[in-house]
Amino acid sequence: MQNYLLEKVKEHEESLDVNNPRDFIDYFLIKMETEKDNQELVFTYENLVITAFDLWIASSETTSITLKYALLLLLKYPQVTAKLQEEIQRVIGKHNSPCMQDRSHMPYTNAVLHEIQRYINLSTIGIPHSVTCDVKFRNYLIPKSFQKRSLLATSDGFWQSPMKRVLDISCVDEDFD
Ligand code: HEM
Repeated sequence: MQNYLLEKVKEHEESLDVNNPRDFIDYFLIKMETEKDNQELVFTYENLVITAFDLWIASSETTSITLKYALLLLLKYPQVTAKLQEEIQRVIGKHNSPCMQDRSHMPYTNAVLHEIQRYINLSTIGIPHSVTCDVKFRNYLIPKSFQKRSLLATSDGFWQSPMKRVLDISCVDEDFD
């Protein structure tokens, strides 16, 4: 896999146009050039390959499994599909591509996607995160070295059935952050 990514990096280098970066690898290569005299060598080939590998691992199975189950569940629940379609057409429209700004105006779509991911137990153990010192956030104290994990999963008896929650979604806020 690393050899494959190294090959891709070489291909990018050969066709790089600094005025027209195409993707993450192009931006990283440009940064390698501008930071080449920096003593702290962060922008190296090794880090580029490792970071691209991380993104690949983090994104491929998560995205494909979400899409696969989303299609199956939307076929099974046409009333949810109809509400999704209505929101997508109202907010994005038929002739525009979606952008990040649209997301905060699409509470139903956002909720459906998250409930689908909960339903398929997409992330059962999450990725551990911790703070390096005590942090006060709103009314909460997050103590140093406390380990936090975000889960996207179902637990019988604790959460209401995710698909039932999707069918019941009528209480989501109009706009949300
Ligand atoms: C439907 C698609 C995706 C799902 C369901 C998903 C799910 C997740 C989850 C549950 C986490 C752990 C978050 C946490 O514990 O705070 C995570 C982290 C991460 N994801 Fe995704 N992901 C998806 C797509 C992607 C894509 C497309 C990329 C990059 C191209 C990506 C890159 C990452 C990275 C780098 C992290 C680690 C972030 C950190 O440590 O703070 N993910 N993802």
